[in-house]
Amino acid sequence: MDRVDELLSQMTVEEKVKLLVGVGLPGLFGNPHSKVPGAAGETHPIPRLGIPSAVLADGPAGLRINPNREGDEKTYHATAFPVETMLASTWNRELLEEVGKAMGEEAREYGVDVLLAPAINIHRNPLCGRNFEYYSEDPVLSGELAAAFVKGVQSQGVGACVKHFAANEQETNRMLVDTLVSERALREIYLRAFEIAVKKGRPWAVMSAYNKLNGKYCSQHEWLLKEVLRKEWGFEGLVMSDWYAGDSAAEQIKSGNDLIMPGKSYQVNQQRVDEVEEILDALRSGKLTEEELDECVRNVLKVFLNSPSFRGYRYSNNPNLEAHARVAYLAGVEGVVLLKNENTLPISRETKVALFGTGQIETVKGGTGSGDTHPRYVINVLDGLRERKVKLDERLARIYEDYVQKMRQKEEYKVRRDAWGTPIKPKLPENFLDEKDLKKFAKENDVAVIVISRISGEGYDRKPVKGDFYLSDDERELVEVVSKSFHEFGKKVVVLLNIGSPIEVASWRDLVDAILVIWQAGQETGRVVADVLVGEVSPSGKLPTTFPKDYSDVPSWTFPGEPKENPQKVIYEEDIYVGYRYYDTFGVEPAYEFGYGLSYTKFEYKDLKIERDGEVLKVSYTIRNVGDFAGKEVSQVYVKAPKGKIGKPFQELKTFHKTKLLKTREEELVTLEIPLRDLASFDGREWVVEAGEYEIRVGASSRDIRLKGCVVLEEKRYKP
Ligand code: BGC
Repeated sequence: MDRVDELLSQMTVEEKVKLLVGVGLPGLFGNPHSKVPGAAGETHPIPRLGIPSAVLADGPAGLRINPNREGDEKTYHATAFPVETMLASTWNRELLEEVGKAMGEEAREYGVDVLLAPAINIHRNPLCGRNFEYYSEDPVLSGELAAAFVKGVQSQGVGACVKHFAANEQETNRMLVDTLVSERALREIYLRAFEIAVKKGRPWAVMSAYNKLNGKYCSQHEWLLKEVLRKEWGFEGLVMSDWYAGDSAAEQIKSGNDLIMPGKSYQVNQQRVDEVEEILDALRSGKLTEEELDECVRNVLKVFLNSPSFRGYRYSNNPNLEAHARVAYLAGVEGVVLLKNENTLPISRETKVALFGTGQIETVKGGTGSGDTHPRYVINVLDGLRERKVKLDERLARIYEDYVQKMRQKEEYKVRRDAWGTPIKPKLPENFLDEKDLKKFAKENDVAVIVISRISGEGYDRKPVKGDFYLSDDERELVEVVSKSFHEFGKKVVVLLNIGSPIEVASWRDLVDAILVIWQAGQETGRVVADVLVGEVSPSGKLPTTFPKDYSDVPSWTFPGEPKENPQKVIYEEDIYVGYRYYDTFGVEPAYEFGYGLSYTKFEYKDLKIERDGEVLKVSYTIRNVGDFAGKEVSQVYVKAPKGKIGKPFQELKTFHKTKLLKTREEELVTLEIPLRDLASFDGREWVVEAGEYEIRVGASSRDIRLKGCVVLEEKRYKP
């Protein structure tokens, strides 16, 4: 008998049920009895059998635990890494694995067994409040990066939990909204990211989502959890619910949602239901069988037997924060995306810089909610530039420092805290500088740098309005007057976008000379920005998500569902045409396309070879740095399918690669493999590769295709 069965045979029914229901929110709200204050969840211990409780903690941008503990001088900070959208902009699997390792080590050394990350829902709409916590609009990029991240985390002996399974692409009414989506779109887009992450990353855990999927709560969805996840994909870990998800604990267990989090009790129709009682009742009445219960218990035990808590690991409470700060920095510099550059960047170390925008001081490190972090420090843009000895106009910097400080004392701009304790800062007006002064700054400096910031978070979606998706009037005024004053003196203007998800850029980008998306880069933001501005590193990030010209161009027009005032359902009417699949197929020009990003150097693509080797296509090509700057290049392989019976997007990303740092005139041979199965579309029952000529398109972005080749394939069919 193996250890799992041995334990199982010794457990009473009550003990089994308890193991499947978390203990509530021990880490939150200052409960002194929690193992790790600030952790999102804990499981029930069974001391009689030597089963300790396991600790689960968020999240995707770093471990979220409380930095301070009552009556304890010591601090428990964790590293704030760049948000996932920025990590995805690196397109660098190895780097994601490094980030995973660092977060995994922090989890382990702070006594956490499972890190509740990565989150891999799809950027269906740029306004989803949690897009910053998700990687991309494309499932291959999302799934590949998630797999690498999971491997990194788990190499440290703790688990990763891939979330939120599935079709959880909005925050509005997330706990009850019904996502109505075709099986094809589900399998090709929304499940695909999870399929790759599960098969390649082998995570310890998957978190089922809050929402309903085609009529059923994801945490109570037997087809999703048993048929697809376990049977089809061979998932061997445990499934846990999202916090307080669903409306029946018994049904969750029956459907294969092994662990109910955070547990204790939840509310249905204004009544508190005790989950343990509900499950025991269901067992008594025969609605749930003991075999069904045992299946979940086995899944939970199997995973937790390997956890640090179970192994009695003595954690240090001293992770290597210095080393991880370096990882956060490296992930940041590789994730910066250069959108526009008219002979402006990099600036020289002698360049005199006038820094505008309150975001230079109140730089946003990441989003709010469970994806938030509590690092030792956050280097804002201003301090990053100062630290790196960029020649700043200090008089202007002081004007901004005084302004921010003064404004935050006013009642209407006072910092509030949200449900997670995150500080919420009402936006400050950006148009307060006087025009005479501006002229002076323009005369005395060489370049203007303007920071535009956005923050969003869990629980609410963004809005297609000024101040959110669009620039506010005062931000626009700032961009206009600064550009006018500086251009009058022949000086350049750079905009830094400190954002977690796209904003509108098309209507103002012509006013400025360069635009850098610095995303929300975590604790090292200021250093990252400074080093990219002065050319210490060349930007090598590429967009993991389309920047549309206008919100009206976005294909997910049903977002966030109907009825408008209180959405109960959201129909994914655009079907598989998500992100670039839509813009490319229907001829809609974006502001900046998927996969786009400039560099300080130039790359040449050459020598494409495509070879079929049984069930895989072998694609190779060479990338050469033909510019004057060292840099890395992300190349992307898209496939355009022949016209067949199944409607197809114009092209789809199948794989990608990032070079090492290439010196001037250095080149790298890229060799990639695409399994034929990855070329299939779902026809409603099966995966089908239709017969015909497939075009292999190697690009520097989805619209900058540098090499093309063809391969003719016969029809192939695969079972799901
Ligand atoms: C979020 C999850 C998170 C959990 C625990 C939920 O509200 O949706 O992503 O892991 O809380 O904090």
